[in-house]
Amino acid sequence: MTDAIRILVTLAEHADPRLVEQALQGDPALEVAGYADYFDDWREFLEQPADVVIVACSAGEDSAKQMVDRAVKHRPDRPVVVMSESSPNGFLRETFEAGADDVITLPQTPQEVAFTLQKGIARRKGLAVPGRATAPLIAVLGPKGGTGKTLIASDLAVALAQRDANVVLVDLDLQFGDIGLALGLSPERTMYDLMKAGPPFDHEKLDRHLIRHSSGVKVLIAPTRPDQASAVSIDFLRDVYASLRTMSDAVIVDTPPGFTPEVIATIDVSSSVCMVGMLDSLSLKNTKLGLETLDLMGYDGENISLVLNRADSRVGITPDDVSTIVGRAPDVSVPSDREIPRSINEGTPIVAAKQSSGAAKAFRTLADRYAKTPTPTPTPLPSGASGVRAIITGRRR
Ligand SMILES: Nc1ncnc2c1ncn2[C@@H]1O[C@H](COP(=O)(O)OP(=O)(O)OP(=O)(O)O)[C@@H](O)[C@H]1O
Ligand SMILES: [Mg+2]
Repeated sequence: MTDAIRILVTLAEHADPRLVEQALQGDPALEVAGYADYFDDWREFLEQPADVVIVACSAGEDSAKQMVDRAVKHRPDRPVVVMSESSPNGFLRETFEAGADDVITLPQTPQEVAFTLQKGIARRKGLAVPGRATAPLIAVLGPKGGTGKTLIASDLAVALAQRDANVVLVDLDLQFGDIGLALGLSPERTMYDLMKAGPPFDHEKLDRHLIRHSSGVKVLIAPTRPDQASAVSIDFLRDVYASLRTMSDAVIVDTPPGFTPEVIATIDVSSSVCMVGMLDSLSLKNTKLGLETLDLMGYDGENISLVLNRADSRVGITPDDVSTIVGRAPDVSVPSDREIPRSINEGTPIVAAKQSSGAAKAFRTLADRYAKTPTPTPTPLPSGASGVRAIITGRRR
């Protein structure tokens, strides 16, 4: 049994103490070391030993941001988690900008609260979450449309499943997701249905909303209509990712082109990024920009794989040119293959449909990069807040 989490709770002006108490009472994993309100002497209060500070507030309160700011400045090594009754637009971003590590939207059970606090503490210490394995989360990115992100995400997922890994593939292309189509799955249940089902996103509920592919990969299908897409919130995604990582060996996320807010939030919690570029100068220019953006977000280059798709196209660009334009050599090169469109039409990724092909080999090479650590990742999770903050403010960390 691990020690209880010692918590200092600061109440912003309009926080509801009853709701906060309900969320913190009754779980031996949670030990409240003290409460302070907005008008108390914070300096003395924050001096007390504790693992984490909770700033409880009602949504959108300015005093909450000040409290987060003070708690972070007072002890920058101690995580600060905001607890609020709701998360209106912009609130999440503002609290992250103030330095919060995470946001808990009430009501939540003490067990859920304990898990979020453990995540915050573990992140700061660069540890996996105690008692729970944290699977790698790999975001497949490409700033330009049509470069092969969906192809690579689905083949990578199947290549890992071929090694008996329990893989979840998430289609984050909320408007035009086509993972379901690429894998021949009908959207009986989608991410939208999961969102409507509401928290907590426990394993049983998640499992009910994942669609199984014959390879064993479980898929969270994108919403089927654009109006449903706009309902998917960043809070929801963060919760779902955290749960999926405790119930699988790897989570692969296929993304839409560009750095949308959902993509940024995904990068922020990911353990690795797979950047996809194609062999033409426009795509390569965008790939370079994408890598620069990741750098700006403070993303560790060690955790980025560069995949060059259609790498054998004869377009007058040599591998050396690629390194010069992009600033680094590709880690994996995927050739063009006429079987690929056919395998997509049949819903069987080429890594399973034609295992001897050059493309299938390339996908297995890509899977090698992640299969080395199929279980708990030793990589510290990048702080959920910091990357978003850096990209929004344009500051280099
Ligand atoms: N190496 C390849 N060989 C042959 N066809 C390919 C290859 N890579 C991608 N394609 C084809 O290119 C098309 C676009 O690929 P894909 O859908 O994976 O790109 P994407 O980056 O996900 O696009 P979007 O940005 O629209 O989501 C698909 O029809 C796919 O079959
Ligand atoms: Mg796609």
